Amino acid sequence: MTSPMRSLLSDHSRYVESFRLFLENSTEHQCMLEFIEKKLPSIISSIGNEKSTINILSVGGGAGEIDLQILAKVQVKYPGVIIHNDVIEPSAEQITNYKERAAKTSNLENIKFTWHKETSSEYESRTKANGDMKKWGFIHMIQNNTSYIGRSRLRFTKVNAR
Ligand SMILES: C[S@@+](CC[C@H](N)C(=O)[O-])C[C@H]1O[C@@H](n2cnc3c(N)ncnc32)[C@H](O)[C@@H]1O
Repeated sequence: MTSPMRSLLSDHSRYVESFRLFLENSTEHQCMLEFIEKKLPSIISSIGNEKSTINILSVGGGAGEIDLQILAKVQVKYPGVIIHNDVIEPSAEQITNYKERAAKTSNLENIKFTWHKETSSEYESRTKANGDMKKWGFIHMIQNNTSYIGRSRLRFTKVNAR
């Protein structure tokens, strides 16, 4: 059966407008910033213990606005540690926006970015088929509620949270 909903992924400007309206009419951004300040530090408190690198996976990285704030917290907690930040993002426009934002952000020297232009389910299928399943210190999927991610659940068999 085909879905009656049209995917926002097929219309970038509609997506951006929907997301803008959503942020304007909700406390989402404020909640996220509170989460980053109050809860995130304890969540990331063990992901980098005695490690020289930390692997982070962002599912639906968007334009990186929140992603970069998360990365800043990880950097503060683990100064000098190399962070491999993989971003799954199907929209080419959002990837461009993310790259531009990252280029304007200071102190990202220890962070290696890899962008995957695909959906989470495409990423999952591809990495499984290649036998390329990486271990992640931290996986996040922030503010994906305006996207139709529902039928593309990302299943990870190995999540290294310690
Ligand atoms: C609101 S943005 C995320 C914001 C972002 N994490 C940040 O740091 O600001 C949600 C993103 O999820 C992406 N997305 C939608 N469907 C997806 C899917 N099936 N797999 C991965 N990403 C998806 C959208 O293209 C959009 O850029």
